Amino acid sequence: MTIQQPTELTHAAMLGLGVYRPERVVTNDEICEVLDSSDEWIQTRSGIKTRRFAGDGETLIGMSTAAAERALAAAGVAPAQVGCVIVATSTHPEHTPASAPQVATALGLDAAAAFDISAGCAGFCHALNLASSMVRSGAEQHVLVIGVEQLSRFMDPTDRGTAFIFADGAGAVVVGPADATGIGPTAWGSDGSQSHVITQTPSCLGGHSEVDPVVQMEGTAVFRWAPFAMAEVAHEALRLAGIGVDDLDAFIPHQANLRITQTLSRNIKLPESVAIATDVIDSGNTSAASVPLAMEAMLRQDEASVGDTALLIAFGAGLSYAGQVVTLPPLGQ
Ligand SMILES: CC(C)(COP(=O)(O)OP(=O)(O)OC[C@H]1O[C@@H](n2cnc3c(N)ncnc32)[C@H](O)[C@@H]1OP(=O)(O)O)[C@@H](O)C(=O)NCCC(=O)NCCS
Repeated sequence: MTIQQPTELTHAAMLGLGVYRPERVVTNDEICEVLDSSDEWIQTRSGIKTRRFAGDGETLIGMSTAAAERALAAAGVAPAQVGCVIVATSTHPEHTPASAPQVATALGLDAAAAFDISAGCAGFCHALNLASSMVRSGAEQHVLVIGVEQLSRFMDPTDRGTAFIFADGAGAVVVGPADATGIGPTAWGSDGSQSHVITQTPSCLGGHSEVDPVVQMEGTAVFRWAPFAMAEVAHEALRLAGIGVDDLDAFIPHQANLRITQTLSRNIKLPESVAIATDVIDSGNTSAASVPLAMEAMLRQDEASVGDTALLIAFGAGLSYAGQVVTLPPLGQ
């Protein structure tokens, strides 16, 4: 008995990008009404000036659905053409049921495969690799990849190590077949020996607690690791794609902290011609949503163009990391 499977490899690319940014803009001064800190300290140490927090009625499922609808419109792909929905998040309140089936239903997808992945701030780039592999292999025609977070719900507003950093939002891309490679091979990996660096306090599953778990972070440890280890990952992603730093138009790293982005960019030895994403200044660190949000900001502000070649790198809790060279997709309104 021969088990049948598709044998023709195709190219995969991001066909459309959409985002959802919550309405409410939160300044550093507002954060400092509760946090023992200052606007000047926050800007100097992190680059962050504002971030957005979801309000009443702005849910993780709703933000994901809105971003996905815009990505589908930008791609010119009908919901019925989508065979799989992958949601990367650390802030869906339940381990079960996952958020992705609810997003698929909200989008009107009748029977799409749908599941969540947990890879911290690196989730979007992990999901992009899964989606690209599915499309390339012929297993699926179109896959929705969504990075979404509602971190404002899972933070201690008095914690000086996290309260000014994290924020909310959603970004989505449609991955589908293309004439040329639009998503390069992924350089990815993990280091579980540093699992203690970014954690959550026990949830109701572990601790029978009535309160939401909150994120905790050894910021200095992240700072010692990311700008150096991720430079190697960047070079591996470039090597796998068969291009050099001079071939890049844009660098879109996870928006952890402006100082990490600047040190990482120096360590990669990016030429001045490469535009560097700095959405963290306006949006804070939105974890799994930060790479697609930063991609959108660059396209919207004409810092990069559709069709440009960009290097994505994401890293965070796990520790987990993933990066790939991509062609920037059209943007939905
Ligand atoms: C969190 C972070 C901004 C802290 O900056 P830092 O330079 O490492 O600061 P430290 O914790 O060493 O503290 C330095 C000083 O600032 C003070 N400080 C710490 N947090 C503060 C805050 N929120 N406001 C004001 N002062 C603060 C400390 O008390 C310390 O004071 P001292 O020198 O008098 O002892 C920084 O470590 C960081 O950004 N790390 C990466 C975090 C990140 O991007 N995570 C994303 C994960 S994907």
